[in-house]
Amino acid sequence: MDKKQKVKIAFIGAGKVGCSLGKHLSLHGLNVIGYQSRSLLSAREAAAFTSTRVLSLSRLLTDAELIFITVPDDQITVAAEEIARQARHESIDLNNKIFCHCSGSLTAEALTVLSEMGAYTCSLHPMLAFADTFTSYEKLQEAFFSLEGDPETRNIVQGVISACGNSTTIIDGAKKAEYHLAAVISSNFVLALINQSMELLADCGFSPEDSGKALAPLIQNNINTILSRGPRESLTGPVERADIKTVEKHLAVLKGNRRKVYALLSRELVTLAESRKGNDKDYSPLLSLLDEYIQL
Ligand SMILES: NC(=O)c1ccc[n+]([C@@H]2O[C@H](COP(=O)([O-])OP(=O)(O)OC[C@H]3O[C@@H](n4cnc5c(N)ncnc54)[C@H](OP(=O)(O)O)[C@@H]3O)[C@@H](O)[C@H]2O)c1
Repeated sequence: MDKKQKVKIAFIGAGKVGCSLGKHLSLHGLNVIGYQSRSLLSAREAAAFTSTRVLSLSRLLTDAELIFITVPDDQITVAAEEIARQARHESIDLNNKIFCHCSGSLTAEALTVLSEMGAYTCSLHPMLAFADTFTSYEKLQEAFFSLEGDPETRNIVQGVISACGNSTTIIDGAKKAEYHLAAVISSNFVLALINQSMELLADCGFSPEDSGKALAPLIQNNINTILSRGPRESLTGPVERADIKTVEKHLAVLKGNRRKVYALLSRELVTLAESRKGNDKDYSPLLSLLDEYIQL
């Protein structure tokens, strides 16, 4: 058996990421031994889902070698402090234990209380939206993981993730906020814009079902084109055509902040359009119009 497959892995936090990652690692033959969570019910469900065990915190700290702390970001340091307290109370040696949280924006520094007790720490972030506790793991095979923290520790965790066939990269701790912002823009902001689009269609009389059907080919083909050709070469629409009359009509439909968002995003599109090779359209009248709305 591969050495990585023998590493005893456990999870603190039996939510969406904990259950999905635990299932993914188990399915790839890694040695996931169990879960501890704030509520016994979540830990039980996670253990059943992954065919592992519910562990007390002290059993988990004694038995596991690699511990994923998959609690919400604002609970990572709280959980780390609880681990430290328990380890001191029961004289559990944390030397050589690896603790890894999964926040996209926080660094391994969130686990300083544990590194001060001799543990190795790092952060591991899967660039994926986990919307469901028990089905999101099905998408994990495609996920790209970023690691940050102590180099030796990162390498061990990277080995575990690579053993599952996932791509990984190393990220500088100072860049984590920027990195996480990139994920939020592509995921949450796109969601906000699609929601706005659906509201406009509802206003035109579309049922939610019809707006989904109407938008699906547009959204899916657009994303596929952007991913294959890059944003610049995929650009279409009234802003790219410098069609000021259509842009004026759109701005007349929108109100308040949505008008401002339209104008700001259109400005970004102008910058992209202007950078296209051989594009000699004059965007200055359009830019003046957009700037009027940005300054409102
Ligand atoms: N969701 C995503 O799309 C996504 C993507 C990438 C990374 N992440 C990161 O993954 C981490 C976990 O996020 P999530 O979406 O899985 O959160 P989640 O679904 O809310 O699950 C968090 C779990 O941790 C348990 N918990 C909370 N506080 C705890 C504590 N102090 N000690 C022990 N257990 C505690 C929760 O409580 P119960 O035991 O009461 O259920 C819950 O089961 C976060 O750092 C997040 O930034 C999330």
